[in-house]
Amino acid sequence: MAKVRIHHFREMKQRGEKITMLTAYDYPTARAFDAAGVDVLLVGDSLADNILGYDSTQPLTLDDMVPFVRAVARGAERAFVVADLPFGTYEASPEQAVMSAVDMVKRTGATAVKFEGGRRIARQVKAVTDAGIPFMGHLGFTPQSENALGGRRIQGRGDGAYDAMLADALALQEAGAFAIVLEMVIAPVAEKLSAALDIPTIGIGAGVNTDGQVLVWLDAAGVGDWHPSFSKQFGEIGKAMTDAAAGYVAEVKGGTFPAAEHTFDE
Ligand code: KIV
Repeated sequence: MAKVRIHHFREMKQRGEKITMLTAYDYPTARAFDAAGVDVLLVGDSLADNILGYDSTQPLTLDDMVPFVRAVARGAERAFVVADLPFGTYEASPEQAVMSAVDMVKRTGATAVKFEGGRRIARQVKAVTDAGIPFMGHLGFTPQSENALGGRRIQGRGDGAYDAMLADALALQEAGAFAIVLEMVIAPVAEKLSAALDIPTIGIGAGVNTDGQVLVWLDAAGVGDWHPSFSKQFGEIGKAMTDAAAGYVAEVKGGTFPAAEHTFDE
């Protein structure tokens, strides 16, 4: 299995091969998804709500992310590992963005960083890519700006929405982004953006006509009580975990575990 490299993404777009991306936050999950052939493992700042139990992504710090990104980077043999830069670690200036991106890559072994926004962060993107760090963009619904966007709202609707998003996407492409996530963008707008860009788009709640797809793995695998309507559950891992734990409790309480084969004699 050849390692996925940055040039593969444009090649995949050109030949019409869809890019697959899932979030991952730990070593065993990274190993499992790498073995399944997932192209990109994203250590998203969705770590905050999905793993650490925060209400939003905003409280997460770069230091919080480091052990999780490190674990995923250790588990990925083939997959390309992208780490989110958390809220507050890149917005202030290109210098801040480069320092955070270098810090993330140096301390974790991530191959690339992602952060949110379009024209407003284009100078940061240029500085990060000039520093030699691959950058993935994120447009549409951007969870770090949830309060400014008025909540989890579908993006791309209304006059001028496509033009504004295209200007943002082109600014990211011009600044050196190698791909752009489009989150909760209406499908016709995501399709037009994907056709207008040279770099691939990776959709989440953005329809089928993007160059790739990403899901939060717990949504895709059926862990947890709530899943967004755009996500499909490809497994029932949450139920399997509860069943396994319930089996363990029953056997320990009933005195049938450990059995002879789990026991060292003398
Ligand atoms: O943090 C994350 O998991 C993400 C995906 C939703 C794209 O940014």
